[in-house]
Amino acid sequence: METIIILDCGSQYTQLIARRVRELNTYCEIVPFNKFPADRRDIIGVIISGSPFSVNDPQACQIDLTQLRGRYPLLGVCYGAQYLASQAGGKVESADTREYGKALLVSHDDSDPLMHGVRDNSVVWMSHGDSITDTPDSFHNVGSTADVRNAAFRIDGEQTWGLQFHPEVYHSEDGMVILSNFVKNICGSRQDWTPDSFIESTVSQLREKLGDDKVVLALSGGVDSTVAAVLLNRAIGKNLTCIFVDNGLLRYHEFEDVLRSYTADMGLNVIGVDAKEHFYKALEGVTDPEKKRKIIGKGFIDIFDREAKKLDGIKWLAQGTIYPDVIESLSITGMTIKSHHNVGGLPEKMSLKLVEPLRLLFKDEVRRVGRALGISPTLIGRHPFPGPGLGVRILGDITPEKVRILQEADHIYIQGLRDYGLYDKVWQAGTILLPIRSVGVMGDERTYENVVALRAVNSTDGMTATWSHLPHDFLADVSNKIIRKVRGVNRVVYDISSKPPSTIEWE
Ligand code: XMP
Repeated sequence: METIIILDCGSQYTQLIARRVRELNTYCEIVPFNKFPADRRDIIGVIISGSPFSVNDPQACQIDLTQLRGRYPLLGVCYGAQYLASQAGGKVESADTREYGKALLVSHDDSDPLMHGVRDNSVVWMSHGDSITDTPDSFHNVGSTADVRNAAFRIDGEQTWGLQFHPEVYHSEDGMVILSNFVKNICGSRQDWTPDSFIESTVSQLREKLGDDKVVLALSGGVDSTVAAVLLNRAIGKNLTCIFVDNGLLRYHEFEDVLRSYTADMGLNVIGVDAKEHFYKALEGVTDPEKKRKIIGKGFIDIFDREAKKLDGIKWLAQGTIYPDVIESLSITGMTIKSHHNVGGLPEKMSLKLVEPLRLLFKDEVRRVGRALGISPTLIGRHPFPGPGLGVRILGDITPEKVRILQEADHIYIQGLRDYGLYDKVWQAGTILLPIRSVGVMGDERTYENVVALRAVNSTDGMTATWSHLPHDFLADVSNKIIRKVRGVNRVVYDISSKPPSTIEWE
């Protein structure tokens, strides 16, 4: 499969380069800067990423350019460009004024294959402390900003370019023109990597890899495990058994609704396990959030293991691991620093082989594949939901009664978001049951009951988030409904904290 390799020198933008290349329907992989897979025959181009290091630092990432220059179309971005220049005998110096943020591309060579079609004075995004102050004769300038003469260059006689700015960052107005020139015109990508082609090739690879073997998969109700299951089901049908565990900490009627849709709509072979009591018992009296998480995680592994052992001849465990998890597992030196599985500890415990059909996809790509597989838009568009579920949204100890209260209040909130057309406008929403009571009055009676907090945030990846400015009418309506309908709640508050410093979940 035509592949562009992105050599990762540790920039915060490396994943963004990959996503942009994939938006051009071209498959690409991120590999550590010193792990270029020189023996592969499917590589059509290479991009060297930015880096937190200066090329002059002793610990700067050293790349073997003899494997790259003149062999593949090559694009150095920021550090990548500075590295190309410094290795060829040019000068890279600490800039007097640290270039950061928006700059204008005041001139460029429109006849250059990389820069063709870029508008004059278009904004480019700079983010570096160094500048290329001198280049060898073979370097040919193809773009400048007011402060940086060598903003873009080409090495004569080669398909090698360097850019001081970041074309992958959204602020670079014509960044996609440049990346498209590189991917399509210079590397010659056929641009045929689409959800449908991914499904077709993955299904055939899975058939080949798994043969007649039996596979077990844990469904969570979330997007990743569902898409993984539907793909595997397409490949091996009834040889896939899915296990869906009700840990008693799912949302209102979620277990029943999702189980029905797994079997009736998607035709999956699913065993639904009601393990509510097991979890409630294990969690009795536990208030420490990390302890709760551990108990819920272990409870899941125990139940899953117990159910899987009842099945005959299982050889593989399938997981919905996605690409960001895989990349995070690799440090830029190529060493595994942490193993990152959705269901930590399972493969070791069960001594099964691991199959991860989504391990090369970003989240938005998983959604696109899911849609192409015909999975319902409601399921594909679901907000993220933490693995320990309502367990981390009931502050303090967990009881079945608290779960009931939270499920009912949350259901009114989430249904309200859908009814008001707000659900898809927020990234994640949820309700939290606080460990305090407050005084209220209902009719003639004084009440002393629970408080719930509503949370809604806008985010792209959950790393940072701002609280959503939901309309007051909506909040008023939801608050009224919750207090009227949910026995045990007499007060509703709205969380107006952003992350950082406040996390999305409350514990
Ligand atoms: P925080 O609370 O750290 O949440 O701002 C960021 C994102 O991670 C989710 N989250 C979890 N997901 N297990 C999970 O699988 C957990 O223990 C957990 N804690 C937080 C949270 O819902 C948000 O999307």
